[in-house]
Amino acid sequence: MFSSRIPDSRTANRLTRAAARHRESLVDLTVSNPTAVGLPPSPTALEGLASPANALHEPDPRGTLPARRAVSRYYSDHGVEAAEDRLVLTASSSEAYSWLFKLLCEPGDSVLVPAPSYPLLDALAGLESVDLARYPLPPEDGWAVQADAIFETADRLRAAGRRLKAVVLVNPNNPTGTSIAEPELERLEERALREGFALVSDEVFLDYRFADRPGDVRIAAARDRALVFSLGGLSKAAALPQLKLGWILANGPDALLAAALERLEWVADAFLSVGAPVQNALPSLLGGRHRAASEIRGRLLENDRRLRAAFPAGGAVGVLPLRAGWTAVLRVPAVVPEEELVVSLVERHGVLVHPGYFFDFPREAFLVLSLLPHPGLFETGVERLRDGIGALGR
Ligand SMILES: Cc1ncc(COP(=O)(O)O)c(C=O)c1O
Repeated sequence: MFSSRIPDSRTANRLTRAAARHRESLVDLTVSNPTAVGLPPSPTALEGLASPANALHEPDPRGTLPARRAVSRYYSDHGVEAAEDRLVLTASSSEAYSWLFKLLCEPGDSVLVPAPSYPLLDALAGLESVDLARYPLPPEDGWAVQADAIFETADRLRAAGRRLKAVVLVNPNNPTGTSIAEPELERLEERALREGFALVSDEVFLDYRFADRPGDVRIAAARDRALVFSLGGLSKAAALPQLKLGWILANGPDALLAAALERLEWVADAFLSVGAPVQNALPSLLGGRHRAASEIRGRLLENDRRLRAAFPAGGAVGVLPLRAGWTAVLRVPAVVPEEELVVSLVERHGVLVHPGYFFDFPREAFLVLSLLPHPGLFETGVERLRDGIGALGR
């Protein structure tokens, strides 16, 4: 009866079941929803949503011009020229991925994504009948993107008869916070153009970069050597995931870019998924984003300091550098399997964190936790985490 695009095993895993049983007493260090951590938007931030213009439906498949102009100003604040006619609005960056997979892929075509990275990409590719393969980010280089690792994976795909249509960069990556450096992107662009695949650069954490390495690329679609799409959205840029607005900034050689935009508009026209209220309010929502983003940055840095104080450098537990994003990564002794560790942290110590395998870390043992929770709660969670890791193997 049902499509095989939806996996058979949709049942809760062991960790989710344990977390549900201990919900009342648990400190949740996986929260990624900025509206649930005591950082409310300013009282004026949402006023623009009450415009009388919301009574009208005047759809533009790419998004209304004033809304796209507001996104264009967002990019000029970041020093990048992003003409309105290279922007397409979506309901979220997840939707942006699905539209780009529709734009680029036949069923069975391949896209490459980094490992470790954000787990939702498997579901998004699967729903478009796209085959997803992973290229490794090398731990020995701090998980930075290396073009050679992408090329090796691409060669293996080709040898297996698969057709590569897109390489996804999560830039900065969630959860490692690392980015692609300019020389690596240049090599990738050259090959993308030659072999006919596109680059999709997920830049939702653009406003949360703390420690770039020299040459790190912030906005891949500032460049036009290959077909490239940069993704962003309100959910992270203005900490407003509930409003459902994301965007795609496209760039590339003229003819290829025009063909891509025309087709993307056709996909967007089939859905018209972005509501009028959020588009009408976008200039004021993006105008108010600085306050929200700066409060979140303060929160992330404060919690990062607490985490490092709990796990000082040189100890058995390593805290990876916070380069960008909303998450911290801990390297912990691989004494028991990650799954056992995270379940026992829930059941015996009352704290929920993600296991590294959830993000496709190449080996055990890593733990991934959110830096968003209220600092008091975060501190309690980290104390429980330290106790739980301390009890390892006992
Ligand atoms: C790297 C990355 N991309 C995309 C998303 C999804 O963002 P959106 O709410 O715009 O769909 C997330 C959500 O956490 C993310 O971490």
